[in-house]
Amino acid sequence: MSYDLIVIGSGPGGYVCAIKAAQLGLKVAVVEKRATYGGTCLNIGCIPSKALLHASEMFDEVGHLDALGIKVAKPKLDLPVMLAHKSATVKSNVDGVAYLFKKNKIDGHIGTGSIAAPGKVVVTKEDGTSETLETKAIVIATGSDSAPLPGVAIDEQRVVTSTGALELDKVPGKLLVVGAGVIGLELGSVWRRLGAEVTVVEYLDRVLPGMDGEVAKQFQRLLEKQGFAFKLGTKVTAVDTSGKTLKVTVEPAKAGEAAAETLEADVVLVAIGRRPFTEGLGLEGAGVELDERKRVKVDGHYQTNVPGIYAIGDVIAGPMLAHKAEDEGVAVAEILAGQAGHVNYGAIPSVVYTSPEVATVGATEEELKAAGIAYKVGKFPFSANGRARAMLATDGFVKILADASTDRLLGAHIVGKGAGEMIHEAVVLMEFAGSAEDLGRSTHAHPTMSESVKEAALAAWFKPIHM
Ligand code: FAD
Ligand code: NAI
Repeated sequence: MSYDLIVIGSGPGGYVCAIKAAQLGLKVAVVEKRATYGGTCLNIGCIPSKALLHASEMFDEVGHLDALGIKVAKPKLDLPVMLAHKSATVKSNVDGVAYLFKKNKIDGHIGTGSIAAPGKVVVTKEDGTSETLETKAIVIATGSDSAPLPGVAIDEQRVVTSTGALELDKVPGKLLVVGAGVIGLELGSVWRRLGAEVTVVEYLDRVLPGMDGEVAKQFQRLLEKQGFAFKLGTKVTAVDTSGKTLKVTVEPAKAGEAAAETLEADVVLVAIGRRPFTEGLGLEGAGVELDERKRVKVDGHYQTNVPGIYAIGDVIAGPMLAHKAEDEGVAVAEILAGQAGHVNYGAIPSVVYTSPEVATVGATEEELKAAGIAYKVGKFPFSANGRARAMLATDGFVKILADASTDRLLGAHIVGKGAGEMIHEAVVLMEFAGSAEDLGRSTHAHPTMSESVKEAALAAWFKPIHM
């Protein structure tokens, strides 16, 4: 069989690339080694974690409605049903991808793909049989997997990655999370809401590295109010699994062993980042170069050093986000169809789906300072927003960063209920190179949480009205 394009990997990068290319008239195949399409995101990432985040948030909220005059008996957890809701959500999404492949006449091949040579992909099935497919172009979209913690063996039962943390069959009494990044704080939130005592051990002296420092500080305080305990500037050096309770050795990130202490936990979640997945792809044989962090090296058109072989998503440089992978998938499909595919890396939002949410796009204050760019800051707290007061959702604030001389929007950072939806008005504005004044002059419906975005923009440009 001969194709215009073979995509290896069917995550958000791969499946979106395949669909877009088929829509543009290319004959496309996808090779996926998992039994279902959708990659990390749909099977063991974004989608199941959001199903559990939503369900656990409802469980938590229903126990805190007294202030609204609603008396509810203490809610009871039916964990198997909650996990079944998660699995059903995953199934409907992965089935949706299979349907879209059919609709767009994309051939799906289940098996491990490897590149025998430019234009030749070998698909090895589970039973060991293989088939060679021919193609004009190959897109590598093989994603990433969890980074290991040296000296700590994962069993996905008691010492887990995010994959095991989405499957725990009972609520751990004590959950120790290694890494105060997105996975640690999202999945830590799930199990805390369901009753676990959660301690987060983080190597750096802050949570959510890379996010605006002020936002991260306020967010950490809110999580502490919810019961999270943080041990910052600390590393895990060993996990003793010999007893009924896990014994976790931690020590200051900068000091020696003398200061080591032992913490107890029922489950340890290792969430210290993800690494590109290129195993078994035959990249060395095909001569495809990797960078210093073992990511596939690509040029501005997502082409590797080998003509006809492209790469997108978590396996290349940039933020490991589903929507970044998707947009690269669209861009490379357009390039292959002779169009001008492009991704604006300056306007990729990032959302932490905790309660409250954290959402961010563009530059942080730290980045602007480091780049020597003069900027203005506009801030507005949800405590001054009428809708937020009505919903008892006054935690958090909006922060808008604009260029000091041109007023162009450079970044937006939100902690608050619904932050992940609100951020998109800043995303669209940045895409069109708009200013804080543009945002501040746009009519926002009243009463909405989004009015705080407008007020923060007014604060950056001139003055807010309601503060
Ligand atoms: P992947 O989704 O990793 O897909 C790669 C696919 O390639 C996999 O299906 C794999 O089986 C397949 N594959 C690998 N090698 C081969 C081979 N040789 N042959 C055939 N197939 C192969 N991002 C967000 O933006 N929002 C979120 O809310 C979010 N939540 C997350 C929660 C968790 C718990 C995790 C782990 C991640 C989350 N992410 C989230 C990150 C997101 O999942 C990734 O950024 C995204 O999946 C990357 O897409 P991709 O297409 O590059 O790769
Ligand atoms: P991360 O990079 O977000 O956070 C890892 C954290 O672990 C960092 O704070 C880091 O300093 C810390 N760390 C590293 N080594 C350590 C050690 N030895 N001891 C203690 N702490 C250590 O990685 P995470 O949370 O694993 O997520 C992986 C990727 O998945 C991220 O890039 C993220 O973008 C993506 N993701 C996105 C989500 C979203 O968009 N909502 C949700 C979940 C994951």
